[in-house]
Formats: sequence, structure tokens, C-alpha cells
Amino acid sequence: MDIWHVRGGNRLFGSCRVQGSKNASLPILAASAVLPVRSVLRNVPRLKDVDAALKILSHLGCGIDRGENELVIDSSSFTGAEIPRELMAEMRSSVIFMGALLARCGEAKLSLPGGCQLGKRPIDLHLSALRQMGAEITEEGRDIFCRARKLHGADIDLRFPSVGATENIMLAACAADGVTTIHGAAREPEVVSLRDYLAGIGVDIRGAGSSTITINGTDRKEETEYTIPSDRIVASTLACACAAAGGRIILSGVDADHFSTVLHFLNEAGCDIINFNDIVEISSAGKLRAPGHIITAPYPGFPTDAQPILMAALLRSQGTTHITETIFENRYRQVSELRRMGGDISVSGTEAVLRGVEKLHGGTLTAPDLRGGAAMIVAGLQAEGETVVVDAGHIARGYESFDDTLCALGADVWIEHK
Ligand code: EPZ
Repeated sequence: MDIWHVRGGNRLFGSCRVQGSKNASLPILAASAVLPVRSVLRNVPRLKDVDAALKILSHLGCGIDRGENELVIDSSSFTGAEIPRELMAEMRSSVIFMGALLARCGEAKLSLPGGCQLGKRPIDLHLSALRQMGAEITEEGRDIFCRARKLHGADIDLRFPSVGATENIMLAACAADGVTTIHGAAREPEVVSLRDYLAGIGVDIRGAGSSTITINGTDRKEETEYTIPSDRIVASTLACACAAAGGRIILSGVDADHFSTVLHFLNEAGCDIINFNDIVEISSAGKLRAPGHIITAPYPGFPTDAQPILMAALLRSQGTTHITETIFENRYRQVSELRRMGGDISVSGTEAVLRGVEKLHGGTLTAPDLRGGAAMIVAGLQAEGETVVVDAGHIARGYESFDDTLCALGADVWIEHK
């Protein structure tokens, strides 16, 4: 258990290099098992979810060597096809090991994944696509048994641009006979970085970043090196923290295009945003205004992961902000906690209405999930007094040394580890 203590009132100044992307790293770690190759990965963030993925790879017989700046995975010693429940339960993205295992050895024994409780989070799109590629899949309770003598290419239509399903299909298609085409694919930057990694080990993938992706199976095996891009949601979180607390920070190593919708709303809310190459500078007087209707959507729309965090940043803004959450059916779990700090937010189904208040006061809150926990830290930075966030380890799943990062920018934050 991590008990976060945040003393509000400090403005943020300084610069920081944003960590590598959790949601780019996780599918690439699964992909490293698709072919018997040695992968040298850089800028992989030190996170609980990454540790969970490495435990799965190690369980499957892969060699793992984590140095100061490089993570080397050698999957030539791959032996397994079964992932124990306790490893599957640690995070949502364990589900994309299904595609990797089917590609590598034609079978997979796993169970429904864990992860943030943002709603039902079914995996029907994953399963129906893999069945179309020739996998025989039986579900028994939470257990899933997959087998495929030989996967074959397929023309797959996704009714929703699911990130995980797109990634799972890409991994399975690496070893399929013939071409697989995904229509209605997710366009997230993390799908593009997965393509970049797979191209490095010899997989022919076209169209990543668009709604139509084609994958040509391969048996080529090449050692590869890849540097994980920066985390666009962590960058968004730091930008929102500065917007809420006031000050001026410089984020480096980022691609502003990957979180341009978040920067747009911060600019509308009164922040000055300057972007030059891989640098974004955010300045804020610490008193924001309502930026207009925020509607979450698949990329390139406003990212659902930034919704709780921008909501927190706007708690003291002038005016009323309407928020519509279109991706997850239960992504307002932070609202009841933010209300306890004095936030004025009403929720009805997918709609939230936030009325800015003059002041927020500290309190003791419970982090409901990864991004909800980060939202509470952002709220605490602008609250009077001390905010205590009781966190069952959610924040550490996605934010590397987040307390150190905030303190280096001038925040008064510390963690009691219990
Ligand atoms: C990925 O989750 C991210 N996680 C999430 O980030 C992110 O919120 C989400 O994409 C949306 O952008 C990782 O990349 C590890 P989806 P994923 O499949 O793949 C429904 C974070 O905080 N759906 O695009 O699970 C689903 O219920 C996390 O870093 C089906 O109905 O998201 C949801 O409503 C949280 N059937 C919607 O699609 C399926 O088979 C989006 O899910 C799959 C999904």
C-alpha cells in the first residue's frame, strides 16, 4: 500500500524528460516472444505492469536481462504455452500474450486478464478475430484454451477500434499463412510503435496508424533493437499538473502530436503551450477557465486515459465544463473522491458536468484505479492543506518515480510505503 501525501500550493517549475510509454512497452514485450529472437529494448519504463509482463516472459522460458539503460529479451529459449492465473490477473494487457503464444507455438492456456475496473472490458473482439484466423478457442469460466494447427490470414472487421484487439491480431498474424487485414483498426501511437518493433524482427506490416492494417506472416528471425517512445498519458498528466498548480514546466522527449487534444484543451483553459521538436513548454497562472466540451474518443480523439486527469485540473476553473466519456462505461470512479475535496461534479451515465469552485481542501482519498489515482494527485497540488491518497499500488503501475518527478518540479509530495 502506498500512502501519498500532497501539500498543495506550490507552483511547478523546471524540466523533465518523460518516461517511456507503458502502453507501447506492454504489447512489444508480448511481441518479443513471437519469434525466437534477441530484442534489445531501450527507454522501457520501470513500472509494476512492465514487471508483470517480464514475469510472464520469464515463466514462458525467455531470458531477461534488465540493465541500467537496456532490457534484453532472448526468446530463443521459449518453452511454455501456459500463463498462470496469478500472472494473468496482474494487468489487462496480459491478454495480448494470447496472440503471441498462438503465433509462436500454436496454443495458449491463459485466463481472463486483470487491470483497472473501468467497466466490463470483454475480450470478444480478440476471440472472434483469432477464431477467424483458425484458432480453436474454448472458454471455461475464467480460463481460456486456444489451439491452432496453423493460423491463416483473414479479413477482420472490428466493430470498435479496440487497441488490445488490434495488437493481438497483429501478433497472431505474424505467423499466419497469408495476409491478414484489419478493418476498423485502432490508430493509437502504441499500435504504430508495435508495428515499428515488429518490422525490426522482419514482419511486413502496412497501414499501422490508419484504420486498415495488413500483416504478412513471416518466419524471418532477426535480432532487433528498439527504443520505446515517451508516454503520452504521463506527459498529459504532468501538463495537467502544471496547469492546475500554476508555473512553467518543460517536457522533453515527447511527441506533441500524440497528446495534441489534451494540449488543445489546456490552451483553451488559459495555458500557454509552446512546442518545438520533442519539447513542450506549458505555462499557467494556476487559474483556469472552462475549455469547452470534452468528449473522449479513440485516437486521434481525446484520450479516455486523460479524462480523469484533466477533470481534476479543471476543478477550480471558472465556468462549467461538460465531459462525455464514450470509451468505458465506468470511468468516473474518481468523481466521488474529488467531490470530497470540494469539487462540484455531477454525473449522469456517460455525462459529467463540472462546475468550477473557488477552493479545494485536502482530505483522505482512495485511488480507484491508475488514472483516477493520478487525478487525485493533480487535485491535491491545487488544494489547501494536505491531501492523502491511499493507493493500493495503482499509480506505480503506470507512473515511474512519479513522486520524485513532481518533487523535482517543486511539488511537496511524499509517499509512505506500507
Ligand atoms: C488500452 O486498453 C489501454 N491499455 C488503456 O489504457 C486505454 O484506456 C484503452 O486502450 C483505450 O484507449 C493498454 O494499452 C495496456 P480497448 P484496451 O480494447 O486495449 C471495449 C491505462 O490507463 N472492448 O481499446 O483494453 C472495451 O470494453 C489503460 O493505461 C470490447 O467491447 O482498450 C472498452 O469499452 C486503461 N470488446 C473499449 O472497447 C473487446 O474485445 C476500449 O477497449 C475489447 C474491447
